[in-house]
Amino acid sequence: KTIALLTGGTTGEWVVSVKSAATIAQNLDADLYDVYKIMLNDHSWFYEPADSVKIEINRNDFSLTLEGKKIKFDGVFIAIHGSPGEDGKLQGYFDMLQIPYTTCDALTSSITMNKGYTKAIVSGIDELFTAKSIQIFKDGNYHIDEIKKDLKLPYFIKPNSGGSSIGMTKVKHADDLETALDKAFKEDNQVLIEEFVSGREFSIGVFKAQGEVTVLPTTEVIPANEFFDFEAKYTPGATEEITPGNMSNEEYERVHRIVKDIYKKLNCRGIVRIDYFLEYETGNFYFIEINTIPGQTATSFIPQQVAAMGISLKAFYTSLLKETIG
Ligand code: DAL
Ligand code: MG
Repeated sequence: KTIALLTGGTTGEWVVSVKSAATIAQNLDADLYDVYKIMLNDHSWFYEPADSVKIEINRNDFSLTLEGKKIKFDGVFIAIHGSPGEDGKLQGYFDMLQIPYTTCDALTSSITMNKGYTKAIVSGIDELFTAKSIQIFKDGNYHIDEIKKDLKLPYFIKPNSGGSSIGMTKVKHADDLETALDKAFKEDNQVLIEEFVSGREFSIGVFKAQGEVTVLPTTEVIPANEFFDFEAKYTPGATEEITPGNMSNEEYERVHRIVKDIYKKLNCRGIVRIDYFLEYETGNFYFIEINTIPGQTATSFIPQQVAAMGISLKAFYTSLLKETIG
């Protein structure tokens, strides 16, 4: 099959996307797939067969013309974190062209890109807790004093559609709230202000293969920084990551039940990664967020979890493609 592997994107996460696509390109089965890596950025969409040779994609039918021959794709492997890969835009475009892709559909992608809306949907799931939060809009008339009154410090301030912790701040003193909001509003016109949950932090991959929702071994994250920020995420050794993370049998079974329910309730497809806390005091599962195009870089969790499961990345990506593209 002829596959387009999409990378780049229009957000600060594009650097991460390039690294994710490199891992995927190295591990796609060359006997089964003819792969063209395509870069999408603010200005153009192109295939780069050699240094400084750029061949533009025809956006009317997402085709490529190489040496006079038109190449059309049987499917698309989307490795773009953030917009337009993870937020439903490309999914809608490929739906209209009837080209299958590896990710959740357009609706699920766009809802899950918004952390606040996602919380509203998953909060009905049994045994799942969410941190108390307020979602505010750049041009909305929110009142700082009311936020301070309604939420307990410390807060996490998050651009609502952000990724890789870009634009995020942990606020310990109420006086720092406005600066943190300004920073987050530079990334997004919606911001989520969440109460801090004191607990152990985990991340877990969930995917569907042969019609079955399957859970990867979870990773426990112990960042050396104040929280698991961009630097902690992508600097090798900056974070202690334990896969499989240590959980009691009861926790293991409960986490599996909950993440499978999340996957089904959000109508996910392909590989997603769910981040959560187990609160110290109660052991309760607190949903942080879901990533529908989780990182595949050398320091990302999914490759580590696939290795811990004892399968090769090549077999894993083949099973994803079989499930989603056919
Ligand atoms: N948003 C980053 C890429 C992740 O979830 O891994
Ligand atoms: Mg994320």
